[in-house]
Amino acid sequence: MKKTALITGSCGLVGSECVRFFSKKGFRVIGIDNDLRQFFFGDSASVKENKFKLIEEVKDYLHFDLDIRNREDLKKLFKEYKFDLIIHTASQPSHDWAKNYPLIDFEVNTFATLNILENFRKYSPGGVFIFTSTNKVYGDRVNSFSFLELDKRYDLSANDPYYQGIDENFSIDSTLHSIFGADKLSADILVQEYGRYFGLKTGVFRLGCISGPYHKPAELHGFLSYLVKCAVYNKEYTIYGYKGKQVRDNIHAYDLVTAFYYFYLNPKYGEVYNLGGGRYSNISILEAIELVEKIAKKKFRFCYLDSPRKGDHIWWITDNSKFRKDYPSFNLSYKVEMILEEIYQNYKR
Ligand SMILES: NC(=O)c1ccc[n+]([C@@H]2O[C@H](COP(=O)([O-])OP(=O)(O)OC[C@H]3O[C@@H](n4cnc5c(N)ncnc54)[C@H](O)[C@@H]3O)[C@@H](O)[C@H]2O)c1
Repeated sequence: MKKTALITGSCGLVGSECVRFFSKKGFRVIGIDNDLRQFFFGDSASVKENKFKLIEEVKDYLHFDLDIRNREDLKKLFKEYKFDLIIHTASQPSHDWAKNYPLIDFEVNTFATLNILENFRKYSPGGVFIFTSTNKVYGDRVNSFSFLELDKRYDLSANDPYYQGIDENFSIDSTLHSIFGADKLSADILVQEYGRYFGLKTGVFRLGCISGPYHKPAELHGFLSYLVKCAVYNKEYTIYGYKGKQVRDNIHAYDLVTAFYYFYLNPKYGEVYNLGGGRYSNISILEAIELVEKIAKKKFRFCYLDSPRKGDHIWWITDNSKFRKDYPSFNLSYKVEMILEEIYQNYKR
């Protein structure tokens, strides 16, 4: 009999990659997405197109428009299906958006995660639960590092203990998380507890920038996709602070979902992993602009505001060693150059 996977946020960047990936692996895939992304970021960020494509292209995909905050609807779904795998990607994903709507952010990012966990515990306790957390749970502690200011980026010297990236031992305390970071951290800890306290198979993935062709970008979320979109449509891009030298590591959604698959095959109980592009795939805004100009073969329009977003990282590179140690077959396949090229080609199609 076919295994069944539940993907929340199934029409978003990570969710839609999960639907395609696990369907190809032979799962029956059930998705939940009510296009709240359109409510968060406007019509241009709507995931409706992704939903229609999934329904049309993915065999056996079953879509539910329901809201993960709704206790009755979720319970009904969990009573009807037994899930072997749950990947919870539905979220309000922007820390800037959350500051104006803390209650909605909490309901979507924290309460709804508990709502799903409780149904998982009651109705599918034999399954595997994967949660998409964020590096924002570590707050902005990284900004206190002594960075070298290079021509187009801030970076650490090669002999700095964090040169290869930030690992899971980085403190989460006494730092500015943002409302979003605090809500995601609460959910992240709940997922750990359902593993440790209730003895369920749960994994927390603390992620940096994720990219891929299915992102519906907005200025407040989807860094590389939004940058490419600006290039394609000649829209002016605004750089917020740090001279455009802030660095992000970037992981392709496909690589991330491959990591989820390894976890599913050999699950743990309440384990936490940092995962990102690491030293293998990272870029500053100025470097990304230069690269996009090369790919699009035209000048990129941008302006500069000398005020960073509150809580924004100056630099983030993930240390993937813990995941690589537990799952040695896992490798990153996409470098940031390939990711940008793919996003660009997707817009030109
Ligand atoms: N994209 C990144 O760079 C990044 C970085 C770190 C962490 N993450 C985390 O990874 C996860 C996936 O991110 P993404 O980029 O795919 O986000 P996304 O916005 O593309 O996808 C999330 C989907 O969830 C849906 N959704 C939101 N609230 C919902 C609700 N109440 N009920 C039903 N559906 C709802 C949205 O409509 C959207 O399609 C999120 O948890 C996010 O916090 C993302």
